[in-house]
Amino acid sequence: MELLRKLIDARARSLGIGLDDVERERVLRDIARWTARKREGDRLVKTEDGSYTLWSGEFGEPYHSLTAGAVRESLEKFVLPSRIVEKATLRGRVRILDVGFGLGYNVAVALCKIKKVAPKAQVEIISLEKDLRRDIPILPEPYGRFHELIIELLPEGEREGVSVRVLLGDARKRVRSLIGFYADAVFHDPFSPYKNPEMWSLEFLDMIKRSMDPEGYWVSYTSSLPVRRALMDLGFRVGSSKPVGRKRGGTVATLMGQLNTLGPSEKKRLVTSPFSVPFRDPGLERDPLEILVDYRLSVLLRERELSSGRREGARTESPSGGLLSGSM
Ligand SMILES: C[S@@+](CC[C@H](N)C(=O)[O-])C[C@H]1O[C@@H](n2cnc3c(N)ncnc32)[C@H](O)[C@@H]1O
Repeated sequence: MELLRKLIDARARSLGIGLDDVERERVLRDIARWTARKREGDRLVKTEDGSYTLWSGEFGEPYHSLTAGAVRESLEKFVLPSRIVEKATLRGRVRILDVGFGLGYNVAVALCKIKKVAPKAQVEIISLEKDLRRDIPILPEPYGRFHELIIELLPEGEREGVSVRVLLGDARKRVRSLIGFYADAVFHDPFSPYKNPEMWSLEFLDMIKRSMDPEGYWVSYTSSLPVRRALMDLGFRVGSSKPVGRKRGGTVATLMGQLNTLGPSEKKRLVTSPFSVPFRDPGLERDPLEILVDYRLSVLLRERELSSGRREGARTESPSGGLLSGSM
Protein backbone atom coordinates (compact mmCIF):
# COMPACT_ATOMS: atom_id res chain seq x y z
CA MET A 1 0.00 0.00 0.00
CA GLU A 2 2.85 2.36 0.92
CA LEU A 3 4.46 1.80 -2.50
CA LEU A 4 1.19 2.53 -4.25
CA ARG A 5 0.73 5.70 -2.17
CA LYS A 6 4.23 6.83 -3.22
CA LEU A 7 3.50 6.09 -6.88
CA ILE A 8 0.27 8.11 -6.69
CA ASP A 9 2.10 11.05 -5.08
CA ALA A 10 4.90 10.91 -7.66
CA ARG A 11 2.50 10.81 -10.64
CA ALA A 12 0.36 13.59 -9.14
CA ARG A 13 3.48 15.74 -8.64
CA SER A 14 4.68 15.19 -12.19
CA LEU A 15 1.22 16.08 -13.54
CA GLY A 16 1.12 19.20 -11.33
CA ILE A 17 -1.87 17.95 -9.28
CA GLY A 18 -1.87 18.75 -5.54
CA LEU A 19 -3.67 16.08 -3.49
CA ASP A 20 -5.20 16.52 -0.06
CA ASP A 21 -5.31 13.53 2.33
CA VAL A 22 -8.93 12.66 1.60
CA GLU A 23 -8.36 12.71 -2.17
CA ARG A 24 -5.18 10.63 -1.88
CA GLU A 25 -7.00 7.97 0.15
CA ARG A 26 -9.91 7.83 -2.34
CA VAL A 27 -7.53 7.41 -5.27
CA LEU A 28 -5.57 4.78 -3.35
CA ARG A 29 -8.68 2.83 -2.33
CA ASP A 30 -9.98 2.62 -5.93
CA ILE A 31 -6.67 1.54 -7.43
CA ALA A 32 -6.11 -1.03 -4.65
CA ARG A 33 -9.58 -2.45 -5.41
CA TRP A 34 -8.97 -2.62 -9.18
CA THR A 35 -5.61 -4.32 -8.79
CA ALA A 36 -6.48 -6.71 -5.92
CA ARG A 37 -5.75 -10.37 -6.80
CA LYS A 38 -6.08 -13.52 -4.75
CA ARG A 39 -3.16 -15.90 -5.12
CA GLU A 40 -4.72 -18.75 -7.05
CA GLY A 41 -3.95 -21.09 -9.90
CA ASP A 42 -5.69 -21.66 -13.22
CA ARG A 43 -8.58 -24.11 -13.20
CA LEU A 44 -11.39 -25.46 -15.35
CA VAL A 45 -14.84 -24.07 -14.50
CA LYS A 46 -18.34 -24.87 -15.71
CA THR A 47 -20.41 -21.90 -16.89
CA GLU A 48 -24.15 -21.22 -16.81
CA ASP A 49 -24.90 -22.79 -20.24
CA GLY A 50 -23.04 -26.00 -19.36
CA SER A 51 -19.91 -25.17 -21.42
CA TYR A 52 -16.51 -24.99 -19.74
CA THR A 53 -13.97 -22.19 -19.53
CA LEU A 54 -10.71 -21.60 -17.66
CA TRP A 55 -10.14 -19.37 -14.68
CA SER A 56 -7.04 -17.19 -15.05
CA GLY A 57 -5.05 -17.06 -11.81
CA GLU A 58 -2.92 -14.23 -13.23
CA PHE A 59 -5.89 -11.93 -13.87
CA GLY A 60 -8.23 -13.29 -11.20
CA GLU A 61 -11.02 -13.69 -13.75
CA PRO A 62 -12.55 -16.37 -15.96
CA TYR A 63 -11.87 -16.35 -19.70
CA HIS A 64 -15.63 -16.18 -20.32
CA SER A 65 -18.71 -15.05 -18.46
CA LEU A 66 -19.77 -17.59 -15.85
CA THR A 67 -23.27 -16.10 -15.56
CA ALA A 68 -23.98 -15.82 -19.31
CA GLY A 69 -22.26 -19.10 -20.24
CA ALA A 70 -19.11 -19.33 -22.36
CA VAL A 71 -20.76 -20.36 -25.64
CA ARG A 72 -23.70 -18.05 -25.14
CA GLU A 73 -21.36 -15.13 -24.49
CA SER A 74 -19.37 -15.83 -27.68
CA LEU A 75 -22.55 -16.03 -29.71
CA GLU A 76 -24.56 -13.19 -28.23
CA LYS A 77 -21.90 -10.68 -27.25
CA PHE A 78 -19.53 -11.19 -30.17
CA VAL A 79 -20.74 -13.13 -33.21
CA LEU A 80 -24.34 -11.87 -33.53
CA PRO A 81 -23.75 -8.15 -32.82
CA SER A 82 -20.77 -8.13 -35.22
CA ARG A 83 -23.11 -9.10 -38.16
CA ILE A 84 -20.27 -11.20 -39.53
CA VAL A 85 -22.54 -14.05 -40.62
CA GLU A 86 -24.66 -11.74 -42.81
CA LYS A 87 -21.52 -10.23 -44.30
CA ALA A 88 -20.09 -13.66 -45.13
CA THR A 89 -23.35 -14.60 -46.87
CA LEU A 90 -23.38 -11.39 -48.90
CA ARG A 91 -19.69 -11.18 -49.81
CA GLY A 92 -18.38 -14.75 -49.62
CA ARG A 93 -15.25 -13.53 -47.83
CA VAL A 94 -14.74 -12.01 -44.38
CA ARG A 95 -11.91 -10.92 -42.13
CA ILE A 96 -11.98 -11.12 -38.35
CA LEU A 97 -9.57 -9.40 -35.99
CA ASP A 98 -9.66 -11.34 -32.73
CA VAL A 99 -8.12 -9.38 -29.85
CA GLY A 100 -7.19 -11.95 -27.18
CA PHE A 101 -7.36 -15.43 -28.75
CA GLY A 102 -7.60 -17.04 -25.29
CA LEU A 103 -9.32 -20.38 -25.79
CA GLY A 104 -10.41 -19.53 -29.35
CA TYR A 105 -14.12 -19.77 -28.50
CA ASN A 106 -15.25 -16.55 -30.17
CA VAL A 107 -13.63 -17.39 -33.50
CA ALA A 108 -14.78 -21.03 -33.37
CA VAL A 109 -18.40 -20.04 -32.75
CA ALA A 110 -18.17 -17.44 -35.54
CA LEU A 111 -16.71 -19.97 -37.97
CA CYS A 112 -19.41 -22.52 -37.17
CA LYS A 113 -22.21 -20.01 -37.72
CA ILE A 114 -20.65 -18.68 -40.94
CA LYS A 115 -20.03 -22.13 -42.46
CA LYS A 116 -23.58 -23.22 -41.63
CA VAL A 117 -25.12 -20.57 -43.90
CA ALA A 118 -22.21 -19.90 -46.28
CA PRO A 119 -20.16 -23.12 -46.52
CA LYS A 120 -17.95 -21.75 -49.32
CA ALA A 121 -17.14 -18.46 -47.57
CA GLN A 122 -13.46 -17.64 -47.12
CA VAL A 123 -12.74 -16.69 -43.52
CA GLU A 124 -9.53 -14.94 -42.60
CA ILE A 125 -8.80 -14.69 -38.88
CA ILE A 126 -5.96 -12.74 -37.28
CA SER A 127 -5.65 -13.07 -33.52
CA LEU A 128 -3.54 -11.08 -31.10
CA GLU A 129 -2.44 -13.14 -28.12
CA LYS A 130 0.27 -12.83 -25.50
CA ASP A 131 0.56 -16.52 -24.78
CA LEU A 132 -1.10 -19.54 -26.44
CA ARG A 133 -2.42 -22.05 -23.91
CA ARG A 134 -1.89 -25.78 -24.31
CA ASP A 135 -4.82 -26.87 -22.13
CA ILE A 136 -7.72 -25.50 -24.19
CA PRO A 137 -11.01 -27.36 -23.53
CA ILE A 138 -12.70 -28.21 -26.84
CA LEU A 139 -16.20 -26.80 -27.28
CA PRO A 140 -19.23 -29.10 -27.54
CA GLU A 141 -20.81 -29.78 -30.97
CA PRO A 142 -21.79 -28.21 -33.29
CA TYR A 143 -18.85 -25.90 -32.48
CA GLY A 144 -16.32 -28.60 -31.58
CA ARG A 145 -15.39 -29.52 -35.17
CA PHE A 146 -14.60 -25.87 -36.03
CA HIS A 147 -12.80 -25.32 -32.74
CA GLU A 148 -10.57 -28.34 -33.42
CA LEU A 149 -9.84 -27.09 -36.93
CA ILE A 150 -8.68 -23.73 -35.56
CA ILE A 151 -6.57 -25.34 -32.83
CA GLU A 152 -4.92 -27.63 -35.41
CA LEU A 153 -3.98 -24.61 -37.54
CA LEU A 154 -2.28 -22.74 -34.67
CA PRO A 155 -0.27 -20.60 -34.68
CA GLU A 156 -0.69 -20.13 -38.43
CA GLY A 157 -2.27 -22.15 -41.21
CA GLU A 158 -4.97 -22.50 -43.83
CA ARG A 159 -7.52 -25.24 -44.64
CA GLU A 160 -11.09 -25.59 -45.95
CA GLY A 161 -11.30 -21.88 -46.79
CA VAL A 162 -10.21 -20.84 -43.30
CA SER A 163 -6.98 -19.05 -42.56
CA VAL A 164 -5.74 -18.45 -39.02
CA ARG A 165 -2.77 -16.38 -37.94
CA VAL A 166 -1.97 -15.71 -34.31
CA LEU A 167 0.39 -12.79 -33.72
CA LEU A 168 2.09 -13.82 -30.51
CA GLY A 169 3.37 -11.39 -27.89
CA ASP A 170 2.15 -8.12 -26.43
CA ALA A 171 -0.74 -7.04 -28.65
CA ARG A 172 0.40 -3.43 -28.33
CA LYS A 173 3.53 -4.27 -30.30
CA ARG A 174 2.03 -6.84 -32.66
CA VAL A 175 -0.88 -4.60 -33.68
CA ARG A 176 1.61 -2.50 -35.65
CA SER A 177 2.11 -5.37 -38.12
CA LEU A 178 -1.53 -5.31 -39.23
CA ILE A 179 -0.88 -2.96 -42.12
CA GLY A 180 -3.20 -3.73 -45.05
CA PHE A 181 -5.62 -5.83 -42.98
CA TYR A 182 -9.11 -4.32 -42.74
CA ALA A 183 -11.38 -6.30 -40.45
CA ASP A 184 -15.10 -6.72 -41.02
CA ALA A 185 -15.41 -7.61 -37.35
CA VAL A 186 -13.22 -7.00 -34.34
CA PHE A 187 -13.84 -9.29 -31.36
CA HIS A 188 -12.26 -7.21 -28.60
CA ASP A 189 -11.97 -9.65 -25.71
CA PRO A 190 -9.06 -9.06 -23.33
CA PHE A 191 -9.64 -9.42 -19.58
CA SER A 192 -11.72 -6.66 -18.01
CA PRO A 193 -10.64 -3.03 -18.44
CA TYR A 194 -9.54 -2.38 -14.85
CA LYS A 195 -7.56 -5.66 -14.76
CA ASN A 196 -6.02 -5.44 -18.24
CA PRO A 197 -6.06 -1.65 -18.93
CA GLU A 198 -3.27 -1.65 -21.52
CA MET A 199 -5.63 -3.43 -23.93
CA TRP A 200 -8.34 -0.77 -23.64
CA SER A 201 -6.45 2.52 -23.95
CA LEU A 202 -7.36 5.25 -26.42
CA GLU A 203 -4.06 4.65 -28.22
CA PHE A 204 -4.50 0.88 -28.52
CA LEU A 205 -8.10 1.26 -29.68
CA ASP A 206 -6.86 3.78 -32.23
CA MET A 207 -4.49 1.15 -33.64
CA ILE A 208 -7.38 -1.31 -33.82
CA LYS A 209 -9.49 1.30 -35.62
CA ARG A 210 -6.81 1.62 -38.29
CA SER A 211 -7.21 -2.10 -39.04
CA MET A 212 -10.94 -1.95 -39.55
CA ASP A 213 -13.07 -1.67 -42.63
CA PRO A 214 -15.11 1.55 -42.10
CA GLU A 215 -18.30 -0.50 -42.37
CA GLY A 216 -17.00 -3.15 -39.98
CA TYR A 217 -18.14 -3.63 -36.37
CA TRP A 218 -16.08 -3.57 -33.18
CA VAL A 219 -17.77 -5.65 -30.48
CA SER A 220 -17.03 -6.39 -26.86
CA TYR A 221 -18.68 -7.65 -23.68
CA THR A 222 -17.86 -4.51 -21.73
CA SER A 223 -19.97 -1.40 -21.16
CA SER A 224 -17.17 0.30 -19.26
CA LEU A 225 -17.20 4.11 -19.39
CA PRO A 226 -13.47 4.68 -20.18
CA VAL A 227 -13.77 2.27 -23.11
CA ARG A 228 -16.97 3.72 -24.55
CA ARG A 229 -15.56 7.21 -24.08
CA ALA A 230 -12.36 6.29 -25.96
CA LEU A 231 -14.41 4.84 -28.83
CA MET A 232 -16.51 8.01 -29.04
CA ASP A 233 -13.42 10.22 -28.94
CA LEU A 234 -11.99 8.15 -31.81
CA GLY A 235 -15.02 8.95 -33.94
CA PHE A 236 -16.93 5.67 -33.59
CA ARG A 237 -20.70 5.53 -33.37
CA VAL A 238 -21.35 3.57 -30.18
CA GLY A 239 -24.27 1.34 -29.22
CA SER A 240 -25.16 -1.46 -26.82
CA SER A 241 -25.58 -5.14 -27.49
CA LYS A 242 -28.34 -7.10 -25.77
CA PRO A 243 -27.69 -7.82 -22.07
CA VAL A 244 -26.74 -11.47 -21.49
CA GLY A 245 -26.27 -12.89 -17.98
CA ARG A 246 -26.24 -9.42 -16.37
CA LYS A 247 -28.14 -6.12 -16.46
CA ARG A 248 -25.98 -4.12 -18.85
CA GLY A 249 -25.34 -5.00 -22.48
CA GLY A 250 -21.93 -5.09 -24.16
CA THR A 251 -20.69 -2.52 -26.68
CA VAL A 252 -20.94 -2.35 -30.47
CA ALA A 253 -19.12 0.37 -32.39
CA THR A 254 -18.71 1.23 -36.05
CA LEU A 255 -17.26 4.05 -38.11
CA MET A 256 -19.71 3.94 -41.00
CA GLY A 257 -21.99 0.92 -40.48
CA GLN A 258 -25.65 1.00 -39.45
CA LEU A 259 -26.16 1.16 -35.69
CA ASN A 260 -28.74 2.12 -33.08
CA THR A 261 -26.64 4.35 -30.88
CA LEU A 262 -26.81 4.49 -27.07
CA GLY A 263 -30.05 5.57 -25.40
CA PRO A 264 -30.33 8.97 -23.64
CA SER A 265 -29.47 7.73 -20.13
CA GLU A 266 -26.32 5.91 -21.34
CA LYS A 267 -25.28 8.97 -23.37
CA LYS A 268 -25.80 11.18 -20.33
CA ARG A 269 -23.55 8.93 -18.19
CA LEU A 270 -20.84 9.27 -20.85
CA VAL A 271 -20.99 13.03 -20.55
CA THR A 272 -21.57 13.51 -16.84
CA SER A 273 -19.80 10.67 -15.05
CA PRO A 274 -16.31 11.59 -13.82
CA PHE A 275 -15.24 8.03 -14.69
CA SER A 276 -15.87 8.68 -18.36
CA VAL A 277 -12.26 9.43 -19.35
CA PRO A 278 -10.21 7.12 -21.58
CA PHE A 279 -7.23 5.12 -20.34
CA ARG A 280 -4.09 6.64 -21.83
CA ASP A 281 -1.01 4.80 -23.07
CA PRO A 282 0.96 7.07 -25.41
CA GLY A 283 3.80 5.05 -26.91
CA LEU A 284 1.85 1.83 -26.15
CA GLU A 285 4.31 0.60 -23.55
CA ARG A 286 3.22 1.89 -20.19
CA ASP A 287 2.94 -0.29 -17.15
CA PRO A 288 -0.74 -1.21 -16.52
CA LEU A 289 -0.55 0.16 -12.96
CA GLU A 290 0.66 3.54 -14.22
CA ILE A 291 -2.21 3.63 -16.71
CA LEU A 292 -4.65 3.11 -13.82
CA VAL A 293 -2.98 5.73 -11.61
CA ASP A 294 -3.11 8.36 -14.36
CA TYR A 295 -6.69 7.40 -15.14
CA ARG A 296 -7.77 7.78 -11.51
CA LEU A 297 -6.02 11.15 -11.30
CA SER A 298 -7.88 12.32 -14.42
CA VAL A 299 -11.10 11.15 -12.78
CA LEU A 300 -10.19 13.22 -9.73
CA LEU A 301 -9.77 16.32 -11.90
CA ARG A 302 -13.21 15.66 -13.43
CA GLU A 303 -14.69 15.19 -9.95
CA ARG A 304 -13.26 18.56 -8.92
CA GLU A 305 -14.61 20.24 -12.07
CA LEU A 306 -18.05 18.73 -11.57
CA SER A 307 -18.26 19.67 -7.91
CA SER A 308 -17.10 23.24 -8.56
CA GLY A 309 -19.71 23.38 -11.38
CA ARG A 310 -22.32 22.25 -8.86
CA ARG A 311 -21.21 24.91 -6.35
CA GLU A 312 -21.37 27.57 -9.13
CA GLY A 313 -24.83 26.30 -10.03
CA ALA A 314 -25.97 26.58 -6.39
CA ARG A 315 -24.63 30.17 -6.15
CA THR A 316 -26.58 31.25 -9.25
CA GLU A 317 -29.81 29.59 -8.08
CA SER A 318 -32.71 32.05 -7.83
CA PRO A 319 -34.59 32.44 -4.52
CA SER A 320 -37.55 30.58 -6.04
CA GLY A 321 -35.26 27.58 -6.64
CA GLY A 322 -35.08 27.86 -10.47
CA LEU A 323 -31.60 27.58 -12.03
CA LEU A 324 -30.39 30.75 -13.72
CA SER A 325 -27.32 29.06 -15.21
CA GLY A 326 -24.87 26.23 -14.76
CA SER A 327 -27.31 23.36 -15.32
CA MET A 328 -25.92 20.40 -17.28
C1 LIG B 1 -10.71 -13.20 -21.82
S1 LIG B 1 -9.37 -13.98 -22.62
C2 LIG B 1 -9.90 -14.12 -24.30
C3 LIG B 1 -10.95 -15.18 -24.55
C4 LIG B 1 -11.05 -15.51 -26.02
N1 LIG B 1 -11.45 -14.38 -26.82
C5 LIG B 1 -11.92 -16.70 -26.31
O1 LIG B 1 -12.90 -16.59 -27.04
O2 LIG B 1 -11.64 -17.78 -25.78
C6 LIG B 1 -8.21 -12.65 -22.73
C7 LIG B 1 -6.96 -12.97 -23.50
O3 LIG B 1 -6.25 -11.76 -23.70
C8 LIG B 1 -4.86 -12.06 -23.64
N2 LIG B 1 -4.11 -10.84 -23.32
C9 LIG B 1 -4.16 -10.07 -22.20
N3 LIG B 1 -3.29 -9.05 -22.27
C10 LIG B 1 -2.65 -9.17 -23.47
C11 LIG B 1 -1.65 -8.40 -24.13
N4 LIG B 1 -1.09 -7.33 -23.57
N5 LIG B 1 -1.26 -8.81 -25.37
C12 LIG B 1 -1.84 -9.88 -25.96
N6 LIG B 1 -2.78 -10.65 -25.37
C13 LIG B 1 -3.20 -10.30 -24.16
C14 LIG B 1 -4.77 -13.10 -22.52
O4 LIG B 1 -3.56 -13.84 -22.63
C15 LIG B 1 -6.03 -13.91 -22.75
O5 LIG B 1 -5.77 -15.04 -23.52
